[in-house]
This record gives sequence, structure tokens and C-alpha cells, in this order.
Amino acid sequence: LVVGVLASGRGTNLQSIINSIEEGRLDAEIGIVISDNPEAKALLRAENHGLKQQCIESGDFADTEEYEEEMIEVLEENNVDLVAMAGFMKILSSYFIQHYSNRIMNIHPSLLPAFPGTDAQKQALEYGVKVSGCTVHFADEGMDSGPIIMQAAVSVLEDDTVESLSKRILAEEHRIYPEAIQLYADNKLQVRDDRVEIL
Ligand code: GRF
Repeated sequence: LVVGVLASGRGTNLQSIINSIEEGRLDAEIGIVISDNPEAKALLRAENHGLKQQCIESGDFADTEEYEEEMIEVLEENNVDLVAMAGFMKILSSYFIQHYSNRIMNIHPSLLPAFPGTDAQKQALEYGVKVSGCTVHFADEGMDSGPIIMQAAVSVLEDDTVESLSKRILAEEHRIYPEAIQLYADNKLQVRDDRVEIL
């Protein structure tokens, strides 16, 4: 399985995928890491592990469609089977989503469908939920929506801050994302009626 990772920032989820592959827990390879941000630490992480990486900035293109066409071209050149969004801060249009229908995964730091969008951990704290967590799902046209593949729950503690809760959730993100990709690699994920059945 060739994975293309899209990452905009620090890239710790990318790192967990890299580590899982290098340690033999994930039977896949990373064909390319693409960022929309030239400053993304994710690009450095890719380079440090000898992986192909490329920055594609949307500002260099006339419109979203041209930008996404370029992304698709680069992903295809690198024989990517599965696109893994890992802290990718851009919303993909239905053009891109349909091209890779049920072949794009995303990770989000809440138990979806609760708290989509940015600052999910802050939203959870402000709402006062006692349990939050993270979700790996197939991406559809919505924001942080689409068939759910795996989730992990994390207790919200009385004295949690956004930082402390985010850190506890992140540890679970790093655990479940590679596991979800392995399920895909093993052909164990079947999408039916917008739901994922694990075979
Ligand atoms: C993670 O919390 C992920 O769930 C969210 O963005 C963050 C990315 O972190 N989509 P990193 O770049 O993988 O460290």
C-alpha cells in the first residue's frame, strides 16, 4: 500500500506513521508527503527519513481546481493508493474527494460527530464533556465528516487545560492512525451506506 500524506504543520501524526512502518507495525510505504505550508515541520520529518516530499502552495494556482489537479497529479505520479490527511488544514473540494472516494483518511481530535472544525479540544473543554478522544474517518465533502473507521476515548479531567487534554488525545491519535491504515492495507474496511464495516 502506497500512502500519500498531506500535512500542514508539526507532523507528529506523520511521524507516528513513519515510526510504525520503520518498526514493522504497518505494512505500507509513504510515497510522498505533501504540504501546503513551506514551513511545515512535517516536510523536515519526511526529509529526515529519506521520504519524498513536496510543498504545493494553493496561492501559486489560479483556483482550487487547478491546485487540486496539481495535487492529484503529484499523488498519481507517486502511485499513491491512499491519501492520509494528518493535520492538513485545507478543505478539499468535492472534485478531489470524489477522485479519491473512500481513499482519503483524516484524523480529528474529538469523538466525531462532536466538535468538528478547529480547536476541537477547546470546544470539548468548554462544553464540559467528561470524555473526548479522537477519530479516524474517511473524508467526505463535509468538514471532519465521513464514515468513521476507528475512535479512541480519553477521559477529560477536572483540571485539564487545552494543552493537557490535547497531549493525552494526541497519544491516542498516534496509536490509532497507523492501526486504521493497517486495516485498510489488509482490505478489512468496507464502506456500505456511509458506514464502515471492519471485516
Ligand atoms: C492533530 O491533532 C490532528 O488530529 C488534527 O491536527 C493535529 C495535527 O497534529 N487534525 P500533527 O501535525 O500531526 O502533529
